[in-house]
Amino acid sequence: MDPIETQLLPPSPEGLHRAALLLRGGGLVAFPTETVYGLGADARDDGAVDGIFLAKARPGFNPLIVHVADLEMAQALAEFDDIALRLASAFWPGPLTLVLPRRAGAVLAPAVTAGLGTVGLRVPAHPVARALIEAFGGPLAGPSANPSGRVSPTRPDHVLAGLSGRIDAVVDGGECNVGVESTIIGIENGQALLLRPGGIPQEAIEACLGGPLSRGGNADAPTAPGQLNSHYAPSATLRLNAETAEEGEVWLGFGPLGGQFNLSRNADLAEAASRLYHLLRAADTAAGPGGIAVAPVPDRGLGRAINDRLRRAAAPRGNDVSPPADLG
Ligand code: TXA
Ligand code: MG
Repeated sequence: MDPIETQLLPPSPEGLHRAALLLRGGGLVAFPTETVYGLGADARDDGAVDGIFLAKARPGFNPLIVHVADLEMAQALAEFDDIALRLASAFWPGPLTLVLPRRAGAVLAPAVTAGLGTVGLRVPAHPVARALIEAFGGPLAGPSANPSGRVSPTRPDHVLAGLSGRIDAVVDGGECNVGVESTIIGIENGQALLLRPGGIPQEAIEACLGGPLSRGGNADAPTAPGQLNSHYAPSATLRLNAETAEEGEVWLGFGPLGGQFNLSRNADLAEAASRLYHLLRAADTAAGPGGIAVAPVPDRGLGRAINDRLRRAAAPRGNDVSPPADLG
């Protein structure tokens, strides 16, 4: 693939107009959402969607989330039952992805859904994402804007570090404030299943549904890539639940534990989520062969998504020292 020049566009009306033109021409434009930066393409255009898989080196079996403006646009693409409607009205716009049966006749490039009968849909809350969908005027396929299997981007420079020369543009929306990807919920036999913990805490979804949420899928037959083992991986090795750092380790702390890098000195889980990927990148740059030690993070609220990502980042990567280029 010959390198192309990647433009950094401002989130102004002119910048968004330019981004929409690129998208209409089948181009790839990274854009900010409240969770992480997405790599956008026209979800109805086969060539554009293929371009996403190529730029990320993403395997074709891994479907993409489709970003839409509102429930009406989502209902043109998927069938909503009562549970789906309840969740959508409680959490959209926001960091919730619903995996729902694809509507017959929905206009989507087949590669978006990787041949599945379902489609992952999300209405983002970020004003720049919303303005871009409006300027473009259609559904935007958008996985996280990082090379497959690596740490997700929460700043424009993170996107450029991974994808410069491979995509047409990045719309600069500064830092993403949630900082971990959307919570993914599937619905099977009238039951909501948690496919990936994320920016909406499990507890909030359970309160909305009035009952406990089961975990869906398994690592052998994943329905979302967050369920696969090695993912969100820096180059350095990670040691989790580290109460202290050993000699030669860089310490990624939480609360009173940890010095050099700290997810949140006040032990605030929302702050920790918003800083997670940036600090994983910074710790990765600073780390030597000793790797990164990560302090324990409480496993509640947004801490569940943080711990899920940390476990994936720490997972064995096979014989190769570099992470596999095979996941979301
Ligand atoms: O917050 C987010 O969700 C971000 C922002 C950009 O919206 N996007 C994101 O996309 O994290 P990605 O591709 O990195 O991870 C989402 C995953 C997909 O990789 C895929 O496995 C799962 O959602 N997914 C999408 N459609 C699906 C489907 N029909 N069935 C099961 N899983 C699906
Ligand atoms: Mg991803």
